[in-house]
Parts: sequence; C-alpha cells; structure tokens
Amino acid sequence: MPIIFWSDNLSVNVAEMDRQHKKLVDLINELFDAMSAGRGKEVMGKILEDLTEYTKTHFASEERLMQTHEYPELPTQKSEHTALTRQVMELQEKFEGGSISITLETMKFLKDWLQNHIMQNDKKYGPYLNSKGIK
Ligand code: FE2
Repeated sequence: MPIIFWSDNLSVNVAEMDRQHKKLVDLINELFDAMSAGRGKEVMGKILEDLTEYTKTHFASEERLMQTHEYPELPTQKSEHTALTRQVMELQEKFEGGSISITLETMKFLKDWLQNHIMQNDKKYGPYLNSKGIK
C-alpha cells in the first residue's frame, strides 16, 4: 500500500515536472513497500540511493527550467533544493553507516519532505511558467 497517493492537488501544472514528482512519489512508495515487506539492507539501500540520485536530477532539471525562463524566485528555490538534498543525503549516509534503520517515522519524514517541496515551493512556479507558455 502506498504511503503517498498522487492527486491533482500535487500537480504544479507543468507536465514534465509533474512526471518527475510522480517518479519521486514512486520511489518513496517503493521504499515504504520494501520496509513493510521487511526487505534487507541491500534492497533498501539501493532504493534510497536511487531516491537521492533522482532528487539531484530533478532539482537540476527544475533549476534549468527556472533559469531558462528567468524565474525571479530561483535563488530561493536553489537554497531550498540544497537544504532538501542535504537532508536526503544525510538520511542515506546514516542508513549506510548503520546508525539508523528505515522506520515508519523515517517514511513520514520523506513523505513530508516531498509534499512540502511541492506544495510550498514548486506550486509557486506553476503560474509563472504557465504565463511563459510552459505547460
Ligand atoms: Fe520539484
């Protein structure tokens, strides 16, 4: 069972960014499934690694899009991306180092981490990019 359900509520109204956000949702759900099924450290570690890597890819892609269209909030977005990337990298490092395991609490953290990114940051660029003809 998923821990995050995609809904239009999470849409930023830019198709490519929605596609990438859905992939992040899928990766978090995949990690949740693996945790629920009691999968081993190797499987969990691989999903966390994929999540960390895809987070970087997604933020870079978002920043490129904002740069291209001269989005005025780009500096704020960049510093938020840096903070969010650090959080997920820290989680991965702690997991690999054996100081934490993936618990329901960790999953709730990741759920909020992604939802807050979309709802509080990304929702703001939707109307701006739409006004530049990006959908
Ligand atoms: Fe995003």
